[in-house]
Amino acid sequence: MSIVYQRDLAGVDWEAMKSILSRDAFDNGRTPAQLEASFANSFSTCIAHDGTQIVGTARVLSDGVCNAYIVDVWTLSAYRRRGIARTMMELLLPELQGQHVYLFTDHAADFYRKLGFVERPFGMEKVIGNWLQNDPGLVPVGVIGR
Ligand SMILES: CC(C)(COP(=O)(O)OP(=O)(O)OC[C@H]1O[C@@H](n2cnc3c(N)ncnc32)[C@H](O)[C@@H]1OP(=O)(O)O)[C@@H](O)C(=O)NCCC(=O)NCCS
Repeated sequence: MSIVYQRDLAGVDWEAMKSILSRDAFDNGRTPAQLEASFANSFSTCIAHDGTQIVGTARVLSDGVCNAYIVDVWTLSAYRRRGIARTMMELLLPELQGQHVYLFTDHAADFYRKLGFVERPFGMEKVIGNWLQNDPGLVPVGVIGR
């Protein structure tokens, strides 16, 4: 298995990403265009490929100074426990020197513990308006449909 870790978004097939996330039960409802916009608007991203197959994703939201948030950490089921997510995190985290990195997880706390993350008592959340109903004006021109 030769996994390639892509650090830019050149040539990413967003339809294929949507499809494999859906088949792997890690689809949170974003359209391919919304997937593209959310990755393009991230501070940094990592997409793992086995040949033409997308087998992992991870991305960072950050202000570049003090606060970062990790999202979309996923490894295709058949490729789990081979170090792919660890490698993606080890590529992303060193670029966040000096920052407080936060994340939320339902099922993968032990994975993050192995990377040195510690639990905080509780997080809080609120969806503003309706989930994935975005103001098109918030998406940078040139991102969608590029
Ligand atoms: C969590 C997830 C990303 C881990 O991906 P992965 O590629 O299998 O992880 P790795 O192989 O890099 O594992 C790194 C380490 O964490 C451990 N680990 C991975 N998943 C684990 C789990 N679910 N429970 C406990 N330990 C886990 C591995 O054994 C490994 O330990 P080691 O370094 O001591 O050998 C993957 O299981 C996944 O995509 N889950 C569904 C999506 C999800 O829940 N993502 C997190 C959203 S917050």
